[in-house]
Amino acid sequence: MRHLAGKIAVVTGAASGIGLALSRRLGADGMSVMMADVEETALAAAAEELSAEGIEVAATVTDVSDAESVDALASATLRRFGAVHVLCNNAGVSRGGPAWDIPLSMWGWIAGVNLFGIVHGIRSFVPHLIAQREGHVVNTASMGGMLAGPWMSPYHATKYAAVAISESLYHELAAVGSPVRVSVLCPGMVRTRIHEAYRNWPARYGAWPVVHDSPAIAKWRQTASARVGAGHDPATIATAVRDAILREQFWILTHPEFGDALRDKYDGALEGRNPRLLPLPAFNRLTAALERAK
Ligand SMILES: NC(=O)c1ccc[n+]([C@@H]2O[C@H](COP(=O)([O-])OP(=O)(O)OC[C@H]3O[C@@H](n4cnc5c(N)ncnc54)[C@H](O)[C@@H]3O)[C@@H](O)[C@H]2O)c1
Repeated sequence: MRHLAGKIAVVTGAASGIGLALSRRLGADGMSVMMADVEETALAAAAEELSAEGIEVAATVTDVSDAESVDALASATLRRFGAVHVLCNNAGVSRGGPAWDIPLSMWGWIAGVNLFGIVHGIRSFVPHLIAQREGHVVNTASMGGMLAGPWMSPYHATKYAAVAISESLYHELAAVGSPVRVSVLCPGMVRTRIHEAYRNWPARYGAWPVVHDSPAIAKWRQTASARVGAGHDPATIATAVRDAILREQFWILTHPEFGDALRDKYDGALEGRNPRLLPLPAFNRLTAALERAK
């Protein structure tokens, strides 16, 4: 899309972090924004905040893991604004542990939000975009959808899937001659509340499962939270997304510092070399550099 002003955006996971920044960025560029999130109070507060900044917003409480809820979001958007042009499938959750230990309920929760959230968004909105012959879908994956480390297998699995779905959708839309475009957002660490994703653990799964961390995993969890805390400002990620929509650019890789690891991975695969972990000292240097840059 070459122009955003006067158009309509839908953003999921809009109450916090990257989704809130995306809503603010697209709104500041003149779009009306339907903000969707499962966290009702936070969503209302976020919508009020953007409205006070002069952005035309509406808010719909939505659980992206529920197909009917996302259908209802599409209906509410069309009722309120009459059209949809940009869809940001952004809501996401995370929790780690050894793959053999993670309870099935945890796998179900993460797959429901991160994977089926995108599937539901595509099913509920893309037919409207195709019929309208204008639109752009942005799926939030992660650098964790291109490189996998230990203790986060459900997150990596769903984020690799998000990249794969985005690539397929891109080719499918091209194959049917649709002008609707697709982007996949693959950030490294961003300063958000992702490490507190447990706040949205659904009651239907029972109590939050106790996962007994080994000292090594506990240390990893602590370091991972610190890295998110030292991550990029969500506003810079939102600007990169806006620019990608305007340039009709598929890949949105906001953290070039992962380039060497990406090249190393694919070179290794082509050479038949076993995976190697980006050494922790490199991550620590990255965290320190981000701290200094703030
Ligand atoms: N923060 C990072 O370092 C980072 C890096 C790469 C990718 N991401 C991805 O960015 C996206 C946004 O996460 P964030 O970092 O802004 O975290 P965040 O926790 O600040 O925001 C996520 C939002 O999603 C909402 N949400 C959770 N479950 C939902 C559901 N079932 N239905 C609707 N909304 C739901 C939450 O209420 C929250 O408002 C996620 O997909 C995440 O995986 C984050």
